[in-house]
Amino acid sequence: MGPAMMFPNLHPSDLYAAADRLPRVRLAHLPTPLEEAPRFAQLLGGGVRVFIKRDDCTGLLLGGNKARHNEFLLGDAVDRGCDLVVWGAGVQSNNCRQTAAGCAKLGLECRLYLSRGHYTTEPQGNLLLDHLVGAHVEFTDAAVGPELDALLSTKAEEFRRAGRRPYAWHRPRVVPLAAVSYAVCVAEIVEQLAGRGLAPSALYVSSSGATGAGVALGKALLGLECPARLICPMHWPWHIPTALANDANAAAERLGLPHRLTPADVDADEGYVAPGYGKPSPAGREALHLLATTEAILLDPVYSAKALAALIADVRAGTYPPGSVLVFIHTGGVPAIFADPAGVLPAAESASPAGNLIRRNPS
Ligand SMILES: Cc1ncc(COP(=O)(O)O)c(C=O)c1O
Repeated sequence: MGPAMMFPNLHPSDLYAAADRLPRVRLAHLPTPLEEAPRFAQLLGGGVRVFIKRDDCTGLLLGGNKARHNEFLLGDAVDRGCDLVVWGAGVQSNNCRQTAAGCAKLGLECRLYLSRGHYTTEPQGNLLLDHLVGAHVEFTDAAVGPELDALLSTKAEEFRRAGRRPYAWHRPRVVPLAAVSYAVCVAEIVEQLAGRGLAPSALYVSSSGATGAGVALGKALLGLECPARLICPMHWPWHIPTALANDANAAAERLGLPHRLTPADVDADEGYVAPGYGKPSPAGREALHLLATTEAILLDPVYSAKALAALIADVRAGTYPPGSVLVFIHTGGVPAIFADPAGVLPAAESASPAGNLIRRNPS
């Protein structure tokens, strides 16, 4: 018996109330719209209905899942009297862009340590926005994951010794707090669908971290029986379902709720990462084009496109009967497309994107 069945199901309003008892700053436009995508669904076939939870419209410097996360993380920072935020990830990190934006709004200094990886350090896409909102940016060769985490701890300690009060990326503290925000997102979805007399048949989201832990927790707390498919954008050097169940349980503790998940309650699919984290996939490219050309909604190649590719593959495999209500949680990431146009243009055009664009638009 799954833990979701061991306690009475919460109502969305109970979950909102529990989240509101935590330190929180208002940064996101909530609730985000839940928009049906009928032309996209028709193209997929199989008689399914597809709804898109528009978390690409959360605001906070062009939207995305980190606006929700930051309501609790920067709320925690303010509550602890911090005066600076020490954060880091890849050069085109959406996380860093929205953290820098939250810091600007709250008057906190923001220090970003960005891992070069295969990216250029030209100010474009997310990196351009980091600069525009006044973040201090340093580049590093430390790899995203344990190596960069260690660097951030060292930097935070240096600031502490210099008399500052830093709020630093510290995985065990920030991931559960950020997860709370996605349990709340699931409550919004349940409420929005109920308003149309519907319930979800499946949830899809791009995550191998806090967002997914929160979605899995929200599903358990609200007693949803449907799959919550977490489509991983990356592999981690740890067992993702175990880590996310632990993070979900720590989030439940922060909320003062008794639910506990096991790794079996976390449906994390690492099958869509190839050809690698940050690298566009053919299926993701197709997903991006199908959604853009049917609904004029953009995805990003690193996260959301790969997650929608999983939804498309499942529908094509006949997983869902006609009338099923599939909810795709769009986590944003769109600024990254401007840093890598070749990663999102159709494959035939990517060899010479500028030439194609000029030929198509002669005037
Ligand atoms: C656009 C986008 N989607 C999904 C994710 C995954 O979120 P999480 O780290 O909570 O798994 C990220 C993380 O940076 C992101 O930028």
